[in-house]
Amino acid sequence: MTEVYERVSTGIPKLDQMLGGGFIKGRTYLVTGETGVGKTILSLQFLLDGLRQNENAIYVSLDERIDGVLNGALSLGWDFWEYIRSGTFHPFEFRLFTSDLKRFGKESRAFVEAIEKVARGQPVSRIVLDPISALALGAGEEFIVREYLREIINMLEERMKATTLLTCDIPSASKKLSRFGFEEFLSSGVIVLGVVRFKGKLLKTIYVRKMRWSMTDSSVYIFEIEPGEGIVIKEPLSERLDKLSLEEL
Ligand SMILES: Nc1ncnc2c1ncn2[C@@H]1O[C@H](COP(=O)(O)OP(=O)(O)OP(=O)(O)O)[C@@H](O)[C@H]1O
Ligand SMILES: [Mg+2]
Repeated sequence: MTEVYERVSTGIPKLDQMLGGGFIKGRTYLVTGETGVGKTILSLQFLLDGLRQNENAIYVSLDERIDGVLNGALSLGWDFWEYIRSGTFHPFEFRLFTSDLKRFGKESRAFVEAIEKVARGQPVSRIVLDPISALALGAGEEFIVREYLREIINMLEERMKATTLLTCDIPSASKKLSRFGFEEFLSSGVIVLGVVRFKGKLLKTIYVRKMRWSMTDSSVYIFEIEPGEGIVIKEPLSERLDKLSLEEL
C-alpha cells in the first residue's frame, strides 16, 4: 500500500511506529493523561525533533512559567535555550480569562494571531499548546468551548500549516479521554499516557487511542523517562505484568 500522507516524527521512534509512521503533517493531535504523567515531556520531545532538523517550533504554555518548563527540560539534558538564541524556538506564555472566552469568535482569532506573531513571519512546522484544557476552563457553556477550540484548531491548520500537538490533563482515575469530552473529536489522533499500579510498583503506560487514516498498533506499552532521551517506550504492559508476576513466585 502506498503512503498518501507526508509524516512527521513524534521524536519517539516506537511511537511513530505505533501511529503507523508518525503524525500526518499539518494535522492536530492530542496527548492526554493525568497530572505528572509526562505530557509536557512528550510535547517537548516532539518539538526538539524538529529543532534538531533546523525547523521552527512554537511552544505555548498555558499554565506553567516558561522558565520553569525550560529549566525542567535542562534536567533531562535538553537545552532549548540554544534554539532560542539561534532564533528557531519560540516559547511563550498565554493567559486567557473568562471574559476573553465569552467573546470567543474574536478571541480565537486573536489567540491564533498572537501565535503567528511570535514566529515573526518564519514558516513554523511544529506547534504545542500545553495544556489546551487551560484555554477552555472557565468558559462555562460547553458549546462555546467546543466552538472556540474548533476555531483555533481550524485556523492553526489552515493558516500556519504546522503539525500541532495539544496536551490535555484529565482528573486522576477518570475514565474520560479528555477534560471536556470533545477535544478528542476535534483532533486527528489521540495518545493516552497513564499510570498503572501493580504490586507496589508504578508503571507509566502509553497507547494510541485514535489515529485517523492510519494503521495503528493499539497495544498498551510501558514507558520510562530517561535522561538525554526523554520518553523511551519499552515492552507491552502485558509482558511487564507477566514478568512481575513471575518474580513474585
Ligand atoms: N529529569 C528527569 N528524569 C526522569 N524523570 C523525570 C525528570 N523530570 C521529570 N521526570 C518525570 O516526568 C514527570 C513529569 O512530566 P511532565 O511534566 O511532562 O508531566 P505532565 O503530564 O505534563 O504533568 P502536568 O499535568 O502537571 O503538566 C514527573 O512526574 C517525573 O516522573
Ligand atoms: Mg505539563
